[in-house]
Amino acid sequence: MRIILLGAPGAGKGTQAQFIMEQYGIPQISTGDMLRAAIKAGTALGLEAKSVMDAGQLVSDDLIIGLVKERIAQDDCVKGFLLDGFPRTIPQADAMVANGIEIDHVVEIDVPDEEIVKRMSGRRVHSGSGRVYHIVYNPPKVEGKDDVTGEELSIRPDDEETTVRKRLGIYHEQTKPLVEYYGKVAAEGNTQYTKFDGTQTVAAVSEQVKQLLG
Ligand code: AP5
Repeated sequence: MRIILLGAPGAGKGTQAQFIMEQYGIPQISTGDMLRAAIKAGTALGLEAKSVMDAGQLVSDDLIIGLVKERIAQDDCVKGFLLDGFPRTIPQADAMVANGIEIDHVVEIDVPDEEIVKRMSGRRVHSGSGRVYHIVYNPPKVEGKDDVTGEELSIRPDDEETTVRKRLGIYHEQTKPLVEYYGKVAAEGNTQYTKFDGTQTVAAVSEQVKQLLG
């Protein structure tokens, strides 16, 4: 099962990734989480990525492609993987083709921009695991604490409204063309493209994902 989750920042990719991981036992490859881990660890990659991410811009294709290639080559990806936040540009999608990486499902989660801006103000994250919550729509069991570890939740630095709007602009310019790209790939081969209405509840979207993946 090799899956790509496609959608705007805040569409619910990370939220559904949690569900798919638990349900199907395949690893989530979240480029955003990998970059945030590198920042936390103070690596050279993290230092390079931090200012770019805080400004809501995209990290360079070369850097991201190298990171994902390395991750997919690991043993736990043999049975499948879930790409969350990658590819995000046409060159990133082309790099997968060039490296012979085939995809079974592209799942698009569609949410209008204004709804996303509203959602981001309520997002809380567990930085150690990447688990995502929302203070109203998907609250943790104990306010401000991660369900699994009980550790404090935090607000992502790029969730401030002006940065969210900048990220949405970049999404429409550089990532949205992948909808057409994968539409064509699906028409030609073995990849299935499915679009879900991401304005439904978290549980309703998960249920539809489950029906799709079986
Ligand atoms: P990344 O971490 O990938 O962020 P993103 O794609 O912008 O996506 P988000 O994590 O913000 O949102 P999401 O769709 O996962 O939504 P979530 O489930 O959290 O990337 C961050 C940065 O890293 C980028 O800006 C870039 O700089 C860099 N980067 C990463 N990958 C890169 C790449 N490939 N190339 C170049 N640069 C890269 O949900 C959002 C909120 O809504 C949560 O609070 C959640 O609880 C809530 N929610 C979810 N679903 C629902 C629902 N159905 N109803 C109500 N609320 C919901």
